[in-house]
Amino acid sequence: MAKVLVLFAHPRPDTSEVNQPLFQTAQAVEGVSAIDLYAEYPDFGIDIDREQARLVAHDVIVFQHPLYWYSAPAIMKEWQDLVLEHGFAYGLHGKALQGKIFLNAITTGARPEAYSTEGMNHAELRSLLGPFEKTADLCGMRYLAPFVMFGAGRAREEDRVTVHRNAYDDLLKALVADRFDLDKASKAALLTDVLDDFILKGEAV
Ligand SMILES: Cc1cc2nc3c(=O)[nH]c(=O)nc-3n(C[C@H](O)[C@H](O)[C@H](O)COP(=O)(O)O)c2cc1C
Repeated sequence: MAKVLVLFAHPRPDTSEVNQPLFQTAQAVEGVSAIDLYAEYPDFGIDIDREQARLVAHDVIVFQHPLYWYSAPAIMKEWQDLVLEHGFAYGLHGKALQGKIFLNAITTGARPEAYSTEGMNHAELRSLLGPFEKTADLCGMRYLAPFVMFGAGRAREEDRVTVHRNAYDDLLKALVADRFDLDKASKAALLTDVLDDFILKGEAV
């Protein structure tokens, strides 16, 4: 069994139509530690030792957040800047994160067609998330394709929230049970609601 850490960042959870319900899903999965960073650190006073201990105690690290300015809400940057220290996360003696798994579980305002080389953003989502992938690489973690819901602003009226919550539940449970095809997921462009290709059946690997 793998230990999965979900670090959730949303500065206005009271207005969230997708991330807040997704976070509730994560909180209910056995084997998942679900942490709300804005709730724990409303003044950004991140406890570095505690966060590093959390990382060491888990095998899979998930950043769950809405996409804000092609990145994450501010506390996630603060968390990275303070917690991923030289000598802990990277550098000659910084080996604490080596071999762990990392992924972003995100929602976007824009529709999927905006995230293509021909679309509004002139790039695929995974390449826009390059700083997360490069950070994971530098820390010796294995980066998986992002789990994404596009067009989140319309998800509720289009009745897409439950399907996505169920897919998130499947994803987290498969990660806990070591039944996720990490090779395939590290090479893929995206993980979406259709996870069948990535979830391994039968014996845990
Ligand atoms: C400050 C801010 C920045 C945003 N930047 C982006 C962006 O870069 N790309 C995008 O597709 N949507 C962007 N959005 C839209 C959010 O991603 C969208 O509102 C969110 O995913 C909805 O999830 P929620 O219901 O959990 O809040 C932005 C929204 C805000 C408030």
